[in-house]
Amino acid sequence: MHFGFFDDKHREYVITTPRTPLPWINYLGSESFFMLCSNTAGGYCFYRDARLRRLTRYRYNNSPLDQEGFHFYIKEGNTVWNPGWQPVQTELDSYCCRHGLGYTVIEGRKDGVRALQEMFVPVKDDCLLVRLTISNETGRETRVSVFPYIEFCLWDAVDDSSNFQRNWSTGEVEVKGSAIYHKTEYRERRNHYAVFWSSKEPDGFDTSRDAFIGVYGSPARPEAVFGGGCTGSMAHGWQPVAAQQFDLDIAAGKSASILFGLGYIENPQDKKWESPGIIDKSRAEAMIARYADDAAFDSALAALKADWAQLLSVFSISSGNEKLDRMVNIWNQYQCMVTFNMSRSASYFESGMGRGMGFRDSCQDLLGFVHMIPERARERILDIAATQFPDGSAYHQYQPLTKKGNLAVGSGFNDDPLWLIAGTDAYLRETGDFSILDEQVPFDNDETLSRPLSEHLRRSFRFTADHLGPHGLPLIGRADWNDCLNLNCFSEQPGESFQTTGPNEGPVAESVFIGGMFVKYGKAWAEICRRLGLSDEAAEAEKAVAAVEAAVLDAGWDGKWFRRAYDAFGNVVGGSECQEGKIFIEPQGMCVMAGIGKAGGQAEAALESVKALLDTKYGIVLQQPAYTRYRLELGEISSYPPGYKENAGIFCHNNPWIVCAEAELGHGDRAFEVYARTAPAFIEDISEIHRTEPYVYSQMIAGKDAATFGEAKNSWLTGTAAWTFLSISQAILGIKPALDGLLIDPCIPADMKGFTAVRRFRGATYRISVENPNGVQKGVKELLVNGIPVEGCLIPPADPGCIVKVVAVMG
Ligand code: GLC
Ligand code: GLC
Repeated sequence: MHFGFFDDKHREYVITTPRTPLPWINYLGSESFFMLCSNTAGGYCFYRDARLRRLTRYRYNNSPLDQEGFHFYIKEGNTVWNPGWQPVQTELDSYCCRHGLGYTVIEGRKDGVRALQEMFVPVKDDCLLVRLTISNETGRETRVSVFPYIEFCLWDAVDDSSNFQRNWSTGEVEVKGSAIYHKTEYRERRNHYAVFWSSKEPDGFDTSRDAFIGVYGSPARPEAVFGGGCTGSMAHGWQPVAAQQFDLDIAAGKSASILFGLGYIENPQDKKWESPGIIDKSRAEAMIARYADDAAFDSALAALKADWAQLLSVFSISSGNEKLDRMVNIWNQYQCMVTFNMSRSASYFESGMGRGMGFRDSCQDLLGFVHMIPERARERILDIAATQFPDGSAYHQYQPLTKKGNLAVGSGFNDDPLWLIAGTDAYLRETGDFSILDEQVPFDNDETLSRPLSEHLRRSFRFTADHLGPHGLPLIGRADWNDCLNLNCFSEQPGESFQTTGPNEGPVAESVFIGGMFVKYGKAWAEICRRLGLSDEAAEAEKAVAAVEAAVLDAGWDGKWFRRAYDAFGNVVGGSECQEGKIFIEPQGMCVMAGIGKAGGQAEAALESVKALLDTKYGIVLQQPAYTRYRLELGEISSYPPGYKENAGIFCHNNPWIVCAEAELGHGDRAFEVYARTAPAFIEDISEIHRTEPYVYSQMIAGKDAATFGEAKNSWLTGTAAWTFLSISQAILGIKPALDGLLIDPCIPADMKGFTAVRRFRGATYRISVENPNGVQKGVKELLVNGIPVEGCLIPPADPGCIVKVVAVMG
């Protein structure tokens, strides 16, 4: 069932009913000011850090769901409604929500009155802009009262939702003209405030929630709206809000529009006050002046759209398959940018109050956005590397505001170091900028411990090489990519962390998955060494890699697939002798991507086992059979009911590993089949089962053991975005940045006749045409660069500014 449709021309998903299976959201903002915005205008705003600088409130586990947001109440006669249906839920005569790239437009119509609510965050400014346009299509003159409403959060979202004894006494606001200033805690240590404004002098306002909503009222029935209007209340403690009232007399056939904004302002310490107790508003007033009229609003929106068009122009395709084109050209890349901005902090599943940036998450996210914003990828790599410890291990998470490692979680996730090589290698291949390796980067954020980035990579590599277990496989530590395989933890008390209770290192538990990673990214490190002229070190690295590869093929091989791990007692995890959890997806993907067992047939066998044992109609499950009881020696994985999350859910992130692995073996049909099975646009038809947004990936889809097979959760913030983009753009379509240029090496379905692509790479533009006249799945038999035949698949980098015409004929 559909709840909307893709409008590819405008790069929008158009939602045609407010009753989507779950709120379907969008992200407004791309640098520092953000709003999560649902299809009914629910959501919240924050500045940089969703926990520490939250501007508006949101209640995640509320019922009814998704009530807080940036809402307008429209009142005509006795009828009250919202353009997006929520929170009053008055039945609308028509409804439509357009989620575009960085903007959302919601339109509702009731009894001949139409309300259009346009929302976006302008490029390089710290505010949300909203325009409300009311059109009178009743055929008569009418009075429409309009009430915008937001509820302020007292900045620290955790404290705001727990420390009531203090917070109900601290709230403060100021009102000046048509602006409402939220200045809680500004009197003491904060130098920032929020400003809500409108372009028109209101007929009334409220700043106290009790006055506007009513102590026993609700957002669905605000007393001021349903009763006699705004009261001019001033909030002193309790719940500061911004609400206004506009009484508009609109002639038949005419429209009226008002501009609104919500901004975040920081003042220098010595310019906090205009006069005692009165905040300095000059920066806010300058912001308001920047967007004073429709022309300013329109040009800021046009600039935002131009910005996105520019970002997406780096890579685009035309394949004849509209679902594929819309994923590759629009939504997958859009999601990659959102994961770049948010990491795993704020979605409708991640509360923004929990973890910071993940070391492994952010390194993997890089793989998906490095081509669009290489300069910011560079900065991100250096930030991440600065949270590495001198021994090569790493803080598992760091806080974006401070860029400091998160002590509570600490280190000990033994895959982390290798992801730094993966991210840096992707950056080098995209940009050719080896100077990044000379950047001085601190260890553990301690400037006195600064060393070149290349030294960080070296220690990443060495950390793994020096932490091998009894079978010569890498030790797993607290966990590897699978956060829920906690082989050294043994947690028995509810509420304990599955990852950080107990020792972070055990001398026995080993990971075959990290073995695969070590081979894949260890080879990349050896190649980097060679480029740096360190041929001895390269040869030594290759020796260490070969030893782990041999161990993977020996103790890591089960006969038909790669084992997953050895637990703390030396028992196999993910092997045929196991009753449950016989086979896991991760090592099959990673080891084959690394090329392990390609020559000896193990790679082929492993992927056949995946197909035979893990495939479902909605994607490939993480492992089988699901664990049916809690297993102390395995940890969190067995805490989930069968079919959910890591316990045999379809964990979308590692499906593209199988895509890449299949492509590695030349299986274009199967690679595309796996790709299409979880790609959102391809499964739009089952939106009622899938439930999350049909334009972005979710972290997890319930597996076949679950009662809700096919139901997705944790949409938006997942490494799936980066890995699927990599799998489709590089593994299937075969346009791969390499250290020496651009490789063209597609692995596509036999019935795909070809495609064209435009790729900007190191300043030049490649217009690529791939032809598949003989219906093969892999292999380029002829490559023409500007009409001249080239040996092999590699195109050396052209000069910046050049346009390069490429024809690749498969066969
Ligand atoms: C979550 C984490 C990621 C981890 C995955 C599997 O998505 O963010 O770091 O690899 O779960 O446990
Ligand atoms: C839980 C989740 C896992 C996530 C981890 C992050 O273990 O199941 O997906 O990676 O939390 O800490």
